[in-house]
Amino acid sequence: MKGHLRGQEPPEIGFLAMSEVTKRILVTGGTGLVGRAIEKVVADGEGRPDEEWIFVSSRDADLTSSSETKALFERHKPTHVIHLAAMVGGLFKNIRSNLDFWRTNIHINDNVLHTAHESGVQKVVSCLSTCIFPDKTTYPIDETMIHNGPPHSSNFGYSYAKRMIDVQNRGYSEQHGRRFTAVIPTNVFGPHDNFNIEDGHVLPGLIHKVYLAKQSGSALTVWGTGKPRRQFIYSLDLARLFLWVLREYDEVEPIILSVGEEDEVSIREAAEAIAEAMEFRGELVFDTTKSDGQFKKTASNAKLRRYLPGFQFTPFRKAVKETCAWFNANYASARK
Ligand SMILES: NC(=O)c1ccc[n+]([C@@H]2O[C@H](COP(=O)([O-])OP(=O)(O)OC[C@H]3O[C@@H](n4cnc5c(N)ncnc54)[C@H](OP(=O)(O)O)[C@@H]3O)[C@@H](O)[C@H]2O)c1
Repeated sequence: MKGHLRGQEPPEIGFLAMSEVTKRILVTGGTGLVGRAIEKVVADGEGRPDEEWIFVSSRDADLTSSSETKALFERHKPTHVIHLAAMVGGLFKNIRSNLDFWRTNIHINDNVLHTAHESGVQKVVSCLSTCIFPDKTTYPIDETMIHNGPPHSSNFGYSYAKRMIDVQNRGYSEQHGRRFTAVIPTNVFGPHDNFNIEDGHVLPGLIHKVYLAKQSGSALTVWGTGKPRRQFIYSLDLARLFLWVLREYDEVEPIILSVGEEDEVSIREAAEAIAEAMEFRGELVFDTTKSDGQFKKTASNAKLRRYLPGFQFTPFRKAVKETCAWFNANYASARK
């Protein structure tokens, strides 16, 4: 293994290599879907000998508290930060709790960015989302459009809080010359996702529903019409791209991390891919009394392709299969 995970010194590299560490990378939200994927990619060989990786969760510090955030930074003295920690949830949790999404995420983001600035962190990569873009827009969406109009009403709290990260990054750059930037992933899925049916995102929620429908021999009920379209990114692909952004990407302006427009799938197609991966042979029923959310939010990955024309994404059905296999194998401990 190249690179060090804190508390897990690699056997083949001893004191000499530890003294070569020049980057201490603190990953907030390190126990979530994206954090676990970065940890796996680093442990599987993408880490480098000059890097020490520190993955933290809310148990290490409640980042809504400025004093706990400062203490965390004093403890680990990071030179780089990947900032993932956030209050995250699917459409229905957002609709219920817009105010909580706004306040929690505003506090977390301001504490992390300002503490990083005050403690001289060289680079911060934060995480926005394509669902924060204006509801009324032209397609495909690109990085220049974030602030062009109100977001979809279902998740205005989360969206405005995330947009302010971009505002703050610009401010730290202009006023203090800091290199704080952000990435904009589309819908992420993979092992360690939140598979809660009420509060989670559409894909892990569907995986859990198929699991239960298979057990009880009932039909699979998909919320909404099944017609909305989404670009999904496998968490392990996103993790590899995060490493590239941390090491190579030098802009303050954010970058969309997404599969191509041609790889967008409908919710119906996603449900069918899950049914196939889980070998579910029952009926698919669409509950049209439930909200569809935004019909689509097709994003352009042209900027990413200019930098990394050869990057290979895992095919959607293969990634779905691996995620379903992980959920089946880890049902007892999975977040649900
Ligand atoms: N999932 C997606 O589809 C998606 C799409 C686009 C962008 N994103 C963004 O990607 C990032 C990671 O998302 P994810 O899906 O990996 O999230 P996740 O699985 O829900 O994990 C959230 C992480 O944040 C930590 N956290 C939450 N509240 C905290 C607090 N008050 N103090 C400290 N840590 C806190 C959690 O720690 P505990 O485990 O201790 O609670 C956990 O490690 C987020 O910024 C999210 O907005 C996600």
